Amino acid sequence: MLIRTPKDWETSAAVTTESHYHARPRREFLRTLGVGLAGAALLRPGSLFAATAGFPPKPNPLYPASALKPTAEEYVTGYNNFYEFGTDKEDPKVQANKGWKTDPWTIELKGLVNHPAKFDVNELIKKIGGIEERIYRFRCVEAWSMVIPWDGFALAKLVALADPKPEAKYLKFTSFQDPKSAIGQREGNLDYPYVEGLRIDEAMNELAFLATGIFGKPLPNQNGSPIRLVTPWKYGFKNIKSIVTVEFTATQPKNTWNIMAANEYGFYANVNPKVDHPRWSQASERIIGGGFLSGRQDTLMFNGYEKQVAALYQGLDLKKNY
Ligand code: MTE
Repeated sequence: MLIRTPKDWETSAAVTTESHYHARPRREFLRTLGVGLAGAALLRPGSLFAATAGFPPKPNPLYPASALKPTAEEYVTGYNNFYEFGTDKEDPKVQANKGWKTDPWTIELKGLVNHPAKFDVNELIKKIGGIEERIYRFRCVEAWSMVIPWDGFALAKLVALADPKPEAKYLKFTSFQDPKSAIGQREGNLDYPYVEGLRIDEAMNELAFLATGIFGKPLPNQNGSPIRLVTPWKYGFKNIKSIVTVEFTATQPKNTWNIMAANEYGFYANVNPKVDHPRWSQASERIIGGGFLSGRQDTLMFNGYEKQVAALYQGLDLKKNY
């Protein structure tokens, strides 16, 4: 039997055993067959994007000793915020699967970089050298949380590929614009395209991740197919979905929720139980799928990832920079 020390980002108060991870047997089965993600795509034709076909997630040597219990897949894929496809949590699963095409998909790296480039997402994954799996907590600014097994790669790898110039201090992410497919864009429920930003040192942090899959399968449309940002120490709105450009800038970019309501949503969006949202407390959170008895927990500073990210914010007033 192999025993190893879990990575810091895998540990949690919500400790459980690996047998709780309901998706595991299926994934393990697929890996045993050597088909991985590509096989999963074949097994569920029509419902999956093929962007990662041929690039199964490398079995993560850290897995399966994770101490985090993933939320049931039906919640992760059925309780979503994706305003392009409606404002109700149940909307994206329906509205993002009415013919919206996420294959093929091009992502562009531009701005203050030595290697501006456009990549097909498949090609990008190949260039990066494949994908890995990470189980992270996910904390929405609306005071609910999930635990999600992501497949993808470290954002730092994309930064290295772009090779930023010394003047580049931020990354600006832009999501897709396609009002024909996106009912929310037709209705104008937000200013579009959806945009987000990170400081370059945040983007280089070991936790910052670009996800191309969940539960060992390509990202469903409603979860931000084919590629989305995952920053587990920040509120969910920072995790921009369906990215089309990553621009390296010298000045702090705008982010959609800050544009919509600056007094409620800042640039940093770090999970912080001590700084309340103007309309509700951030001290605790509802656990989606947690049931009646274990349905709530205290919110942790930086969503429990303090050790990995606190140094990024030394000397910064986190009340002002919310
Ligand atoms: N990205 C885009 N393009 N559009 C959105 O409306 N919503 C954000 C974020 N990324 C959003 C987005 C918000 S508010 C949250 S909480 C998370 O996506 C939700 O991710 P999930 O549905 O996969 O849980």
